[in-house]
Amino acid sequence: MTKRIAVIGAGPSGLAALRAFESAAKAGAEVPEIVCYEKQANWGGLWNYTWRTGLDEFGEPVHGSMYRYLWSNGPKECLEFADYSFEEHFGRPIPSYPPRAVLHDYIAGRVEKSGVRKYVKFNTVVRDVTYDAGTETFTVTVKDLIAKKHSSEEFDYVIVANGHFSTPNVPYFEGIEKFLGRVMHAHDFRCADEFAGKHVLLIGSSYSAEDIGTQCHKYGASRITFSYRTKPMGFDWPEGFEEKPLLQKVVGRTCHFKDGTTADVDAIVFCTGYLNHYPFLPDELRLDTRNRLFPPNLYKGIFWEPNPKLMYIGAQDQYYTFNMFDAQAWYARDVVLGRIALPDRATMHADSEAWVRREEALENPYQAIDFQSDYMRDMLPATDYPHLDIDKVTELFKEWEHHKVEGILTYRDRSYPSTITGTVAPTHHTTWMKAMDDSLEAFLNQPAQQAAE
Ligand SMILES: Cc1cc2nc3c(=O)[nH]c(=O)nc-3n(C[C@H](O)[C@H](O)[C@H](O)COP(=O)(O)OP(=O)(O)OC[C@H]3O[C@@H](n4cnc5c(N)ncnc54)[C@H](O)[C@@H]3O)c2cc1C
Ligand SMILES: NC(=O)c1ccc[n+]([C@@H]2O[C@H](COP(=O)([O-])OP(=O)(O)OC[C@H]3O[C@@H](n4cnc5c(N)ncnc54)[C@H](OP(=O)(O)O)[C@@H]3O)[C@@H](O)[C@H]2O)c1
Repeated sequence: MTKRIAVIGAGPSGLAALRAFESAAKAGAEVPEIVCYEKQANWGGLWNYTWRTGLDEFGEPVHGSMYRYLWSNGPKECLEFADYSFEEHFGRPIPSYPPRAVLHDYIAGRVEKSGVRKYVKFNTVVRDVTYDAGTETFTVTVKDLIAKKHSSEEFDYVIVANGHFSTPNVPYFEGIEKFLGRVMHAHDFRCADEFAGKHVLLIGSSYSAEDIGTQCHKYGASRITFSYRTKPMGFDWPEGFEEKPLLQKVVGRTCHFKDGTTADVDAIVFCTGYLNHYPFLPDELRLDTRNRLFPPNLYKGIFWEPNPKLMYIGAQDQYYTFNMFDAQAWYARDVVLGRIALPDRATMHADSEAWVRREEALENPYQAIDFQSDYMRDMLPATDYPHLDIDKVTELFKEWEHHKVEGILTYRDRSYPSTITGTVAPTHHTTWMKAMDDSLEAFLNQPAQQAAE
């Protein structure tokens, strides 16, 4: 009987799985019947922008954490699909740091072309997954949000691809409940314009803090204060920026920090990261991890060791994104198709533990990049995923780190060569600090005045 596989989520990770099976099918392989459940009305995951916050129109938690004016925070050349270049999609080379809408267009273009929409049940949220050891099948229970009906289906395999940058991690600080201004988590941040003229405090010292802080500055905030737990970001912040140790308490509008200093602020944005959250999985199938490069108990960062018919794609922290999800999807597919055999549980665990220990010894972002590059090298040769030059991608990631240190407000003006086509990206028509319109049209079209010059 034909095997069946459920994919939970049609973001970049779930779509990588659909694309992997479709490419094997097109090459003549017999592939399982696939059903992909996506709770939103369209695919693209976080890249599918929503203005909503809190609960959606069906009362479900809003998945989206992206905001207006969000531009890629890494070079697009580091995430390029090996089977679908940016040049192929846009018909010409484009600059290295595209805004969100352009990346959504690229992700969607590949899967529209390969015709996998037919596998996706949109507006359908996965509520529950159970495994029956007797029949060796999973039962997946979903709710069709439009028809308001629950139903269950049986599957031989389940791929969990629901993303892990959606459920906010929100610590408590003394007195915050009486703060006389706006308090929110980055998950609910949508538009920097509301902070024009304001003093914004951002708690956290990672990508969200850095990006939301610089963006608020770009759109007119008067002051930006960051508060770090472990260490400051240490970039070349312009005037009006400050990094302070951790917030201790809030009194009225006054924030007190660990070094005894204070600041009066108008808004507090928690950039304190996200929780890996799998409310539809029972304890025995649920990955329990913080945001890290190698979550424990996942062989190859994919297979749930107690039951490897349950697979996770994209569950780790990410330097590599779209092409890493592809590498994982191709590997998972080949295990399902019987092209790659899994070792016994003890061997799988010894292998994943070695990665976990190696991650724990990492000392800086350069070593972390090498770590994830090695992870890619560990997966890619086993599959027929088209050639990806990991040495070159690694070099680009390291250049990008250097460029951020050289100029946190200017690194997005840089250009890099595609590792797929070799073409060096053109310079964008407007520097990032002056590019206020983040639409696809504004990014791709030369402004009329500049074209005339
Ligand atoms: C603010 C922000 C900015 C980012 N910027 C970049 C960037 O510039 N470059 C980059 O490479 N990466 C960036 N990322 C990283 C991002 O995680 C990846 O690019 C990518 O979106 C991850 O894909 P995913 O499919 O694993 O998860 P997601 O994109 O989160 O997609 C998961 C999908 O699963 C669906 N889903 C969730 N629960 C259920 C359920 N119970 N039932 C059915 N469907 C469900 C969701 O609706 C969603 O469509 C950013 C992340 C954030 C939060
Ligand atoms: N395209 C873009 O420009 C863009 C913008 C935003 C986000 N992103 C992406 O979004 C993803 C998530 O990034 P993120 O920055 O939200 O999360 P993150 O990288 O997991 O960082 C979480 C931050 O929160 C801090 N933190 C956690 N708990 C805390 C606590 N109790 N008190 C104080 N600080 C605490 C951490 O500090 P410690 O260091 O002390 O642990 C860390 O600085 C990344 O993949 C990133 O690339 C991209």
